[in-house]
Amino acid sequence: MSKVFTPCKIGPVELRNRTIRSAAFENMATGNSPSQMLYDYHTAVARGGIGMTTVAYASVSRSGLSFDNQLWMRPEIVADLKKLTDAIHAEGAKASIQLGHCGNMTHRSTCGQTPMGTNSGFNPYSYTFVRGMSEAEIMEVVEDYGAAVNLAREAGFDCVEVHAGHGYLISQFLSPITNHRRDRWGGSLDDRMRFMRLVIEKVLECAKDDMGVVVKTNMYDGVRRGLQVEDCITVAKELQRLGAHALVLTAGFVSVAPMHVMAGSMPIKSLTHYMDFKTMWWLRAGIKVFGRMMMPTVPYKDAYFLETAKRFRAALDLPLIYVGGMVDIRDMERVLDEGFEAFQMARALVRDTDFVNKLQRGECTRSECGHSNYCIGRMYSKEMRCHTCVDNLPAKLKHEVEKSEAANRQSR
Ligand SMILES: Cc1cc2nc3c(=O)[nH]c(=O)nc-3n(C[C@H](O)[C@H](O)[C@H](O)COP(=O)(O)O)c2cc1C
Ligand code: SF4
Repeated sequence: MSKVFTPCKIGPVELRNRTIRSAAFENMATGNSPSQMLYDYHTAVARGGIGMTTVAYASVSRSGLSFDNQLWMRPEIVADLKKLTDAIHAEGAKASIQLGHCGNMTHRSTCGQTPMGTNSGFNPYSYTFVRGMSEAEIMEVVEDYGAAVNLAREAGFDCVEVHAGHGYLISQFLSPITNHRRDRWGGSLDDRMRFMRLVIEKVLECAKDDMGVVVKTNMYDGVRRGLQVEDCITVAKELQRLGAHALVLTAGFVSVAPMHVMAGSMPIKSLTHYMDFKTMWWLRAGIKVFGRMMMPTVPYKDAYFLETAKRFRAALDLPLIYVGGMVDIRDMERVLDEGFEAFQMARALVRDTDFVNKLQRGECTRSECGHSNYCIGRMYSKEMRCHTCVDNLPAKLKHEVEKSEAANRQSR
């Protein structure tokens, strides 16, 4: 039997195999609450044989919401989340939830206040004014993380994943791209880690000894003025010292280097096609003109983070979870042979929720995902979905998908 299908442990949580559905924002939480669509999707992934599925990008507070249809952790949604985790458990999988705060990556209409971040100023990437957080606000967000973990436990989650990468709030504190503070929250890397440290301590305290605590953290930001591999190894060592049960190693700072996260190209036509013309005409026009320049392509390769992730494996002792371009059983086995405890997949399971079962039954050895990233372009405005599940896909989008998949076949 392949090692992929052997059990593993993340902190106190035992998974039936080494596959984890990565946090991939579903855009299915109407009214910031769980919906039938969210329930159906994660239940299908659980039924499809996954070891653990991660409900994506739940905000720990209203101020941390970056999307209108994003989960916001509050007591009113616990009962519906519990129905979701019960259904996941009934299918034999474990349930995790990603907890985050978007910091400056939002708008007043979504987060209900002037967006806040490390520093005051204008954020050209969200096109909004941002207010630098006060000491009291920083401490409030730390408490919000703790409260969110308590709610996650009540809702039956086995594990929480703290989002400390991709340029959201924790990452905004860590990175010199965004953190220009002159108080104790800015300056040296050690001082820039202060906020992360307090969040992780609070999360671990609330997770007690019966929940898994995973942290998704960057291996590099993807631009010269951002965090580099050596800085991120220091951050990872600090997470290890604090007692995180496992790290998910990712890269990219979405406001300045978004394509490092997923690799491939951003499908500009799909992205702009679904944007609401009435409220977002200016953004749509801007992306049509400058999109390619703002979101340069990163050539897609299978297992694209593996070489960098191996440097982290060599420097750390705690369990590591690989993510990025896991579509082929041979790469999955290679990753486990390199000493990673488990691996996450996003697009392979957007393409087919039954992928893990098919691998295990020997019906395929590779996902049919072609990494066009249509699902990502779409996700900003509509519920996450693969292009193969969309009826009457407009010809221009179909053409964009085909072109991108052809380029990826060349580079992979
Ligand atoms: C539709 C979509 C939405 C995503 N949303 C999130 C998210 O909410 N949080 C996160 O940490 N990563 C997010 N990601 C990144 C994935 O979790 C993952 O790191 C990345 O897609 C690489 O894995 P893959 O090659 O298996 O797709 C998203 C990816 C996709 C495809
Ligand atoms: S839309 Fe493209 S990238 Fe997304 S899951 Fe489907 S095939 Fe994969």
